[in-house]
Amino acid sequence: MLILGIETSCDETSVALVEDGRRVRANHIASQTGLHAPYGGVVPELASRAHIQRLVPMVDECLREAGLRLADLDALAVTLGPGLVGALLIGVETAKGLAFASGKPLIPVHHIAAHLYSPFVCGDGASYRMISVGDENVPDTETREQGRTGEGDAPLPAPPLRFPYLGLVVSGGHTSLVRVNAPDSFGLIGETVDDAAGEAFDKLAKLLNLGYPGGPVVDRVARGGDRARFAMPRPMLRGGNPDFSFSGLKTAALKVAREFGPEKLAAEPQLVADICASFQEAVVEVLLKKAGAALEANGLHELAIVGGVACNSRLREAVTEYLPGVHVVFPSPILCTDNAAMIAGLAFHRRERYTSCDLTLNAEAGLPLNF
Ligand code: KG4
Ligand code: ZN
Repeated sequence: MLILGIETSCDETSVALVEDGRRVRANHIASQTGLHAPYGGVVPELASRAHIQRLVPMVDECLREAGLRLADLDALAVTLGPGLVGALLIGVETAKGLAFASGKPLIPVHHIAAHLYSPFVCGDGASYRMISVGDENVPDTETREQGRTGEGDAPLPAPPLRFPYLGLVVSGGHTSLVRVNAPDSFGLIGETVDDAAGEAFDKLAKLLNLGYPGGPVVDRVARGGDRARFAMPRPMLRGGNPDFSFSGLKTAALKVAREFGPEKLAAEPQLVADICASFQEAVVEVLLKKAGAALEANGLHELAIVGGVACNSRLREAVTEYLPGVHVVFPSPILCTDNAAMIAGLAFHRRERYTSCDLTLNAEAGLPLNF
């Protein structure tokens, strides 16, 4: 069963083709990072406009490269929420138009549920296209093209996780611990009471003038830093509370930055590296120790770490230190950040509930997980 997925919940426009919920035939992503960087964060109106400009040509291109037409699809899938409502709307209305015109079912998908499903998606050998979207005066650049290679029809690897498992979602907008009972059935265990983990990285980078988005740059700078130089708090680690809080960490980093002042920070790259490494270690330790406690408290044995922050190199490495002996799965980095392959993948498991195109579907910024 071949599903075309569409994702536009934030600042990535993505279109993907996925077969039977796991095999990626194509995954095209246009990242707007360069467009929003001058503003230090996502500007919703710019995001919506860029989605409008890119989405339909990307659907065309994705199908054309795969040698397919809309008529060859079994269904379409789209992110219904959560996210920026104006950005979501572009995806939802476009998907409705395409599904209605072609007479195909349209399957709405929850963005976070799709992140939780992303470890099951296989496609490192599929057709990836990464496009970097600039502003109106700068033409788009293609930053990576792998072409259609490898995998083809080779057997897929066995599923990497058994249900139920624990999902740790760490993205720019969400930080939560979720019991995943089945591909499309969830129980929320804990979540952040203030900032998301990715947001904390982005704010630290802003504070240290490292640019946007913060996660990847903090990750890179921290590699040369001393993780133990600055004592950063480990918020809400004790007492068995499964919720997270990251806003205090930001305040602690601000205090350190103020203590040294902007001149010293600008003149001493080692100081900046040490702040990044100490901050990152606090985030990583809290995430992994809380995941460990939640595994135990809920009688679960396997953990999936998903979302943009799951790209973090220290988080990936620290698993063996903080969670020795636990089966932990990270999706490949291209499937950690926002992508439509995870949307089309999860849609396969919802196909029986959505057998037509419901034109009343509407984007929902605060869509609940089990909708
Ligand atoms: O999942 P995602 O692409 O979008 C949302 O749904 O939010 O996550 C984006 C977030 C950003 O906050 C970004 O700074 C963070 O993921 N991120 C990272 C890394 N790569 C991306 N955070 C830490 N280390 C990284 N290597
Ligand atoms: Zn996301």
